[in-house]
Amino acid sequence: MLKKDEKKIEKKREKEIDKLIKKLTLDEKIAMIHGASLFRSGELARLGIPAIETSDGPMGVRAEFLDDRWIPVGNQDDMVTYLPSNSALASSWNTDLAREMGHVLGAEARGRGKDVILAPGINIKRDPLCGRNFEYMSEDPVLTKAFAVPFIQAVQENDVAACVKHFAANGQETDRLMVDEEIDERTLYELYLPAFKAAVQEAGVYSVMGAYNKINGVHCCENKKLLDEILRKEWGFDGAVISDWGGVHKTREAAECSMDLEMSIFPDFDDYKLANPLKVLIEKGEISVDTVDAKVRNLLRMMYRLKMIGSKREERKAGAYNKPEHREAVLRGAQESMILLKNENRILPLDAKKIKKLAVIGANAVIQHSYGGGSAEIKALYEICPLAGLKMYLGGNVKVSYAQGYYVPQNKTDEGENWQAASVDEDRNPDMGKAVRDEVNDSENRRRGEEERLAKLEREKAEAHEKNEKLFAEALEMAKDADAVIFVGGLNHDYDVEGCDRPDMKLPYEQDMLIEALLKVRKDVILTFVGGSPVEMPWREQAQTILWSYYAGMETGNALAQIIFGEVNPSGKLAETFPVKYEDCAAAKNGQFGKWGNIVLEEGLYCGYRHFDRQRIKPAFCFGHGLSYTSFEYSGLTMKAEKGKDVKLTFSVKNIGKRAGAEAVQIYIAPIAAQVDRPDKELKAFSKVELGAGRSKKISLTLKQEDFMYYDAQLRKFIADAGDYEILVGASCEDIRLRGIATLS
Ligand code: BGC
Repeated sequence: MLKKDEKKIEKKREKEIDKLIKKLTLDEKIAMIHGASLFRSGELARLGIPAIETSDGPMGVRAEFLDDRWIPVGNQDDMVTYLPSNSALASSWNTDLAREMGHVLGAEARGRGKDVILAPGINIKRDPLCGRNFEYMSEDPVLTKAFAVPFIQAVQENDVAACVKHFAANGQETDRLMVDEEIDERTLYELYLPAFKAAVQEAGVYSVMGAYNKINGVHCCENKKLLDEILRKEWGFDGAVISDWGGVHKTREAAECSMDLEMSIFPDFDDYKLANPLKVLIEKGEISVDTVDAKVRNLLRMMYRLKMIGSKREERKAGAYNKPEHREAVLRGAQESMILLKNENRILPLDAKKIKKLAVIGANAVIQHSYGGGSAEIKALYEICPLAGLKMYLGGNVKVSYAQGYYVPQNKTDEGENWQAASVDEDRNPDMGKAVRDEVNDSENRRRGEEERLAKLEREKAEAHEKNEKLFAEALEMAKDADAVIFVGGLNHDYDVEGCDRPDMKLPYEQDMLIEALLKVRKDVILTFVGGSPVEMPWREQAQTILWSYYAGMETGNALAQIIFGEVNPSGKLAETFPVKYEDCAAAKNGQFGKWGNIVLEEGLYCGYRHFDRQRIKPAFCFGHGLSYTSFEYSGLTMKAEKGKDVKLTFSVKNIGKRAGAEAVQIYIAPIAAQVDRPDKELKAFSKVELGAGRSKKISLTLKQEDFMYYDAQLRKFIADAGDYEILVGASCEDIRLRGIATLS
């Protein structure tokens, strides 16, 4: 459509919105700007303005809940496609997959009758212990934004709003409702904001979720600087801001900044800050009704865009869920997301024809992960676990034996209850009103809860130790006797979970002990893992084969089997650093992670590989690392400055192995004579190329002037220094294959 036509349509829409607002009473306006059920805003039937139906979440559309209780309805019609988590998706380094997954999620959300899907989560992974890292993409802003943009666009092509979350810097779960993060301006702009900015300006996201935490003393959902100055004024966002559930604390502050829709975990809807308390202040004349109109306007604009109201209503897409093609897309996502970290002596791929007896060891071979993790939990139509995937792949001629290997406590909550329900315990507070709210908001109480949780983990450790002796012995016996041994361990959603951070970076349930014992029995044991965040691998030097999978969706088991037996050539690469030990991480060193009350992001820009580079600490597996069953050769880097601003790079990548494969090539910039302190190198572009055996391809990429910039906090803008920059073309952040110098005039 021509720009002129678009402008006309917008003008017409704004007029209609104004007309509508004039027809609304104060009560009606207020009904629109706060939750009227746990996942829905108020409906105005009189004027044909429907409720806004929201749903989690990032890995699929969450099950239906009762309107006022955190209890699943228990229908048989709300199971859905279980998508790869964002951490899996980003490990594919294939942004076409972000589009595909976004399309699946958008179509399913619409198919389930939703208007807003509370995804994607795009917070930067600041520390590997954050409980919600599995929901996020990367430690790097460029990689995160490259995935966020097509994902959001594809969701919204289905007439569903993406709600990008959690704005901003929601980097830890400990004390998540109250923690105050002290962040300097430059770090905020260079690390924690770029993906959100791209979501607004490049993807045109319709809604943004304000985070729970405070930034520099102010809660994100009441933060004028964040919501008014940056989001609205600097970035030009004109969609709707939705609070995280319970993220609004003060009526006046939330009313007077750009917080449009208050949602919460409590069912006392009329007492929400933007409900009766706001009405009282307006009636007293202390707050102008214009503040409410502005919120209503933003919400109505989103509703127009979604064709919920207005003349295009009939044209709104219907969506669909559980389509076979959704499952096919999810399988592709899983295949490309798995990362071969190590493969000495070419143990993988296994030749299925040569195997008569296969031993599969480890609890994660049979655990289903979809129903866990917090608000990212879903009711999957099905989930193929690794053991099932392996057996389905091999068929009946191979004898597959299974041993659990290590003990995992059963942490199921009562039937029908979930963790959000547990946070508003009905027995203690039958009215679920103010008393509950105070209890949850009371930090002593929350701290006690956290202590209880840690004590429980300790008790479980002891319990596991008791049971493991027998389980280890069984597993070791089985391993001796098989043609090949596949260990499937890792984490689960007792660790990768919303609401708490991990206590350490170790594999739970004494898996390290079992792995060490297994490696003594069989050097060639294939170590595979399913988990949402990095773990220490103290045995990694002895291990020959390590394959890592994030929570990769309903087809995890199939994808894993296809990779192990070579039907699929692995092509995932790490979107985050895997440190040798937790103490090597930036926040572990400065003690500014996982604290109650407040944290200072002292490391500034130096998180993830930026920190490991600067401190010359060698990680176990670096950012961008991932192996293939074939090898690639890089050659012929040429650079051409265009218009004195952009730099066009050309180089070739050749598949020099015997089988087809895909390679994610990465471009880093290292400023040579920077006038300010800058990270040693930063990812600026990447591309994934698929190449048949012996084939090569010329790759052209353009670095724009903004790729050379840093944020000058004094000038309050991004600037680039003239001078020389080293351009690094690599297979990972450590494995740099080509270098050149670009001069910026
Ligand atoms: C989470 C959000 C989620 C919301 C609704 C909150 O606890 O932080 O990510 O969308 O609940 O379930």
